[in-house]
Amino acid sequence: MSFSRRLFLQSAAALAVLPKVTWASGQDLVAQTAMQQIAPDGYPETPVWSYGGGVPGSEIRLPQGARLQRRLVNNLPQATTVHWHGIRIDNAMDGVPGLTQDVVAPGKDFTYDFVVPDAGTYWYHAHNRSVEQVARGLYGPLIVEEADAPDVDHDLTLMLDDWRLDPETAHIVDDFDNGHDQSHAGRFGNLVSVNGRFDPSYPVQSRDRLRLRLINASNARIYDLALDGLTGWIVALDGMPLETPIAVGESFPLAPAQRADLIVDVQAESDTVTSLVSREREGGFGLVRFPVSGRAAKAARSGIVPLPPNPLPQMVLDGAPLHRMTLQGGAMRWLESAQLGETELSGRELAQLGRFWALNGHAERPNEPFLDAQQGSAHRIEFVNETAFPHAMHLHGHHFRLILSDGSLGPWRDTVLVERGQTRQIALVADNPGDWLLHCHMLGHAASGMMSWFRVT
Ligand code: C2O
Ligand code: CU
Repeated sequence: MSFSRRLFLQSAAALAVLPKVTWASGQDLVAQTAMQQIAPDGYPETPVWSYGGGVPGSEIRLPQGARLQRRLVNNLPQATTVHWHGIRIDNAMDGVPGLTQDVVAPGKDFTYDFVVPDAGTYWYHAHNRSVEQVARGLYGPLIVEEADAPDVDHDLTLMLDDWRLDPETAHIVDDFDNGHDQSHAGRFGNLVSVNGRFDPSYPVQSRDRLRLRLINASNARIYDLALDGLTGWIVALDGMPLETPIAVGESFPLAPAQRADLIVDVQAESDTVTSLVSREREGGFGLVRFPVSGRAAKAARSGIVPLPPNPLPQMVLDGAPLHRMTLQGGAMRWLESAQLGETELSGRELAQLGRFWALNGHAERPNEPFLDAQQGSAHRIEFVNETAFPHAMHLHGHHFRLILSDGSLGPWRDTVLVERGQTRQIALVADNPGDWLLHCHMLGHAASGMMSWFRVT
């Protein structure tokens, strides 16, 4: 029995409308082990780590401006924390061990309590030993609703992940610190799941309009996504509305931690199957199917309006200082040397310690911040990727704007993909006080050196 994607592609998928799990107790987020059918039917269940007994953890949904309170209860054998990815959050609630809080030991708890300022699609995930804990399933969607939400028939959250499963037992292969993965593109799986299931299916009707909230929870996989039999627009990226929605063309990329909100119209006739497709070198394969049955009585909607804007800061770039962050190391561009703390070590010594990458010469989070910013000041950060691999650079506590090649300001994001050899600039208003992480969201890269931070005072 081999665990090939072909087999997965050909297997008949059950029609699964995923149930919404309800909280065991109102305000608790219980990190616990669980069993889940991730591989196709006929394969054994997979032991996972979960929030509340299922992967993804139950969807947290609340109105913009509301207060979110969850007591994390750690019933796992390993210390953990929760990070609320993309939320412009109070620093003390950001969930970064050693920077904003202590780890929550097994058997202990920690209460998160904060306000969500922006509407959109966000997610929460473990931030201690993320390379292992996220790969084992510690993530879930966090949806903040607009007061004036677009008119759709279905609002579907689709969390993409790839799992490295043993083809016989369907157990997660536990080589999280595999040096080959870490020094190359990161940990890839052999099975792609959406909402914790292989090849799920959501029935729709012809003329339906859907909102698809795509979230990439994978450790390292960059998807190249396409629609088959559906027409759509990207209306938000990383939670933040686009001023002008973009028609989904051939395909669009979704790097680790990134989100895209799509408004999609089902124009296909009844008794056809439409899908969200992942395009790969060897061809496309379906991630989610939307079988069309029947036709909605109403007329199809036409046209698209942008989502209402979030209360983001005004970006004034005049005189904003430029800070360069060089991404270094990895296979084929091995580090000559880099710093661990105050000590300069050779690339060979670092590799023996499982460090393969560096940001500005530091192979771990440095003692001094990369940037010490006055609250409210604007900055440019230039990511110079000298490595042979792409990296998904993520800033905590802030969204930033891409600076496009013509110098104009692009969309707001919290995670930017920097292709190999590429240089990309972003613009940031450092308006959220505290100590904030800045790291690669390829989690094996973060664990093996690509970790930095900035301070806003
Ligand atoms: Cu979603 Cu520091 O990460
Ligand atoms: Cu990386």
